[in-house]
Amino acid sequence: MRRIAIINQKGGVGKTTTAANLGSALARLGRRVVLLDLDPQANLSLHLGTNLASGEPSTYDLLLGRETLADCLRDTTTAGLQLLPAHIDLSGAELELASAFGREILLREALDTWESASQEAHGEAPADYVILDCPPSLSLLSVNGLAAAHEVIVTLQTEFFALQGISKLVEVIQLIRRRINPALTVAGILPTLYDTRLRLAREVLAEIRRYFPGQVFSRPIRTNVKLAEAPSHGVSIFEYAPNSSGARDYLVPSRVHPGSFYALPQSPQQLKQLLMVAGFEKYFQIARCFRDEDLRADRQPEFTQIDIETSFLNRDSFFGLMEGLMAAIWKETLGIDLSPPFERVPYSEAIERYGTDRPDRRFGMELATISDIAEASGFKVFKGAIEKGGVARAIAGCSGSPISRSRLCRAPGAPSPAAHNAGPNRCKPLV
Ligand SMILES: Nc1ncnc2c1ncn2[C@@H]1O[C@H](COP(=O)(O)OP(=O)(O)O)[C@@H](O)[C@H]1O
Ligand SMILES: [Mg+2]
Repeated sequence: MRRIAIINQKGGVGKTTTAANLGSALARLGRRVVLLDLDPQANLSLHLGTNLASGEPSTYDLLLGRETLADCLRDTTTAGLQLLPAHIDLSGAELELASAFGREILLREALDTWESASQEAHGEAPADYVILDCPPSLSLLSVNGLAAAHEVIVTLQTEFFALQGISKLVEVIQLIRRRINPALTVAGILPTLYDTRLRLAREVLAEIRRYFPGQVFSRPIRTNVKLAEAPSHGVSIFEYAPNSSGARDYLVPSRVHPGSFYALPQSPQQLKQLLMVAGFEKYFQIARCFRDEDLRADRQPEFTQIDIETSFLNRDSFFGLMEGLMAAIWKETLGIDLSPPFERVPYSEAIERYGTDRPDRRFGMELATISDIAEASGFKVFKGAIEKGGVARAIAGCSGSPISRSRLCRAPGAPSPAAHNAGPNRCKPLV
């Protein structure tokens, strides 16, 4: 179970937005995720549509030892994503816990207890990720977050004061490491609210990369109004605006990072090896995937694609899969029955008949042999070739009209080329 604290003592730098959407992205990639709201302002809870009444189980009760972690958890609208919500009561926790013994590690103990109970009962961790949304301060609550976490992500707004105060944060992380949590690592620095149009933003980003060499996420989170609007609808960006740049940006850190940050939900290679050892003779994995590549001119900006991983196939199992898939898609989307198996044309035959291995069979574009015509014609180039034992071949086209077809079709009241081809004056093949 990876425990990640999202931290920066400044407010408004995208911590809560990152916790909500990174958590949601990971849940969508098949992980079991718990988001834990450590901020008395409860922005994360509100973002995910939870507005607690006083007295309902929250982070506050967890820290005071009044409730177990499992009792505080709530489901969200995203499968696999649970929330441990906060309430404004939490602002009193600092004072109430001021003299408590071991006050810095209360959260860690609660998480440890929850994890080991699950290990004992079910033989596995209760979640794959716990993401802690820290308050905008370096108070006892943040210290609890840092003590309970294994990793931190520092969000930095790409504006002029981005690095101001950062040395204090680094100092606190080092102190926590020395005193209470030696294994704490920095998973990455995540630049946020990046305005691609501003030179200042680019300069600050370069400055951040210089300050934290090798630790900055490969791509910043761009400023995107959809990210700011999603909380008022109580859902993550993936439900609110799945095609937005905000959704795309939060999928990227959930999947890739220099080195080995968040991996894909499963490793096809490993799975394949296991299946191979287990003696399976075929393997298909058909998954709906999120696209997170850069947009390119030649690419449609669609958000999902179907990925097919296969192994140990022979030709027929491949055809069977693709034909079944195509038939299902046509039926589902267009209501058209395609009945597999489809007609198959061997490569050599396709080349022979159509001059291409991708013939469009809707049109009569079959090649015809015209050696006799060519030989009788005055074209030396054909004649020569045929005399040397070659053949002349051509695609049947229209002829027989003194006026060119394009001119015919341009005349007022003329039928469209398609109607022309279907009518009684249909072009006759040359041969
Ligand atoms: N990439 C972004 N683009 C546009 N607005 C954003 C972005 N990230 C955060 N915001 C907005 O900025 C404000 C502060 O973000 P928030 O995540 O709450 O910061 P923090 O938790 O660090 O205080 C919120 O209103 C949020 O909706
Ligand atoms: Mg916040």
